[in-house]
Amino acid sequence: MTEPLLVLEDIRKNFGAIEALKGVSFSIGKGEVVALLGDNGAGKSTLVKIIAGGHEASSGRMLFEGREYRAKTPAEGKAMGIETVYQDLSLCTNVDVVSNFFMGREITRRVLGIPILDEKAMEREVAKALAEAGTRIPSLRVNVEHLSGGQRQAIELNRFVHWGGKLVLLDEPFAALGVEQTRRGLEMIRHVASQGIGVVIITHIMQQAFQVADRIVVIRQGVVAGDVPTHQTTPDAVIRMITGEALAGTGPAAAKR
Ligand SMILES: Nc1ncnc2c1ncn2[C@@H]1O[C@H](COP(=O)(O)OP(=O)(O)O)[C@@H](O)[C@H]1O
Ligand SMILES: [Mg+2]
Repeated sequence: MTEPLLVLEDIRKNFGAIEALKGVSFSIGKGEVVALLGDNGAGKSTLVKIIAGGHEASSGRMLFEGREYRAKTPAEGKAMGIETVYQDLSLCTNVDVVSNFFMGREITRRVLGIPILDEKAMEREVAKALAEAGTRIPSLRVNVEHLSGGQRQAIELNRFVHWGGKLVLLDEPFAALGVEQTRRGLEMIRHVASQGIGVVIITHIMQQAFQVADRIVVIRQGVVAGDVPTHQTTPDAVIRMITGEALAGTGPAAAKR
């Protein structure tokens, strides 16, 4: 495994009487893509929210770059370089690509002592970032509302990489995208990982997990039911982990019978 970026230790989460997570432990390496799989209600989204600061864990510990990490809000996670890229998008649709890229981080230059936005410099920087990632957008000056879902997602991921993001979380990122856009999205994820960034992707599409992930982690009823390098497993084996069928044949449950 690569150098650990985030380590989860015995993460638990209760919602009233519901135990959504019952002690989840695994880690994510730098530059590693982990696919999180599991049935509806298994606890995947809850786990990702805890990592990003959307929920606080009831107990357990996280280590980020070797130090104890706890985010009470998504803003706290973001400040550490940990962010969720949502399918329902955090871009401002009524401004252009360049403005979205630089939102809150604009480059200014001084003219007669007055700071003004250096639009040309910003445009060059965005164009360079997108070119490196192989993202093609017809115009950087078009309002984001005119771009497709796939293009918007690519811009968000590019922005994340550009500003030094370290761990990106994607919850069903391609659910609303077509085949070609999904293919590009998967390529983009590999590009993101190649920059040393950790990626956690929740997907229910087995093929996507096998295409993009270095490791597959299966969550079942709030616990880790499998954690395997992708090249050492098969879709059938993963399905058995998801359904719990694997336990019936070989696991501790079978031993008790
Ligand atoms: N905000 C919440 N309040 C109460 N229960 C929740 C909340 N979020 C999730 N749950 C419950 O926690 C369990 C895990 O949900 P979730 O993490 O969304 O699963 P998944 O993403 O794997 O489908 C489910 O039983 C769900 O109903
Ligand atoms: Mg979910």
